Amino acid sequence: MTSKAIAIACDHGGYDMKVELIADLQSMGLEVLDLGPDGRDSVDYPDYAYALADAIRSGKADRGILICGSGIGISIAANRYTEIRAALVHDALGARLCREHNDANVIVFGGRMTGIEVARDCLKIFLNTDFEGGRHARRVAKLSTPS
Ligand code: RB5
Repeated sequence: MTSKAIAIACDHGGYDMKVELIADLQSMGLEVLDLGPDGRDSVDYPDYAYALADAIRSGKADRGILICGSGIGISIAANRYTEIRAALVHDALGARLCREHNDANVIVFGGRMTGIEVARDCLKIFLNTDFEGGRHARRVAKLSTPS
């Protein structure tokens, strides 16, 4: 489990899920850094992916949650930064493996694709699963140094 704040951001396709997940995180006693938006008005997902990436890169948070309609656009945006390993997750196995094998620091959901109960389950697994290291550490290190 992380000791720093957990950052969260979305676009209009992920707003309802964001509200639910913030309530869950707070009920777990975790500090939440909500990077917006504040409502369902149409916004551009890269702006929110970049805000969350900045929060992690600057050390304000060490884990993050991003949500757009499909989860795809906001993942692409976040993964433009080498410090960000954003994993678009649809089920519990993906939530576990993105931590064990990929040391993902951001979990991504499609607010129009994944039900809230599945997202809740995946988020708990994401927060409570450690990176396995070993052979995976070598591969993850290569993600930061594309040749
Ligand atoms: C917004 O309509 C939608 O395109 C966005 O939420 C996301 O699905 C993009 O990948």
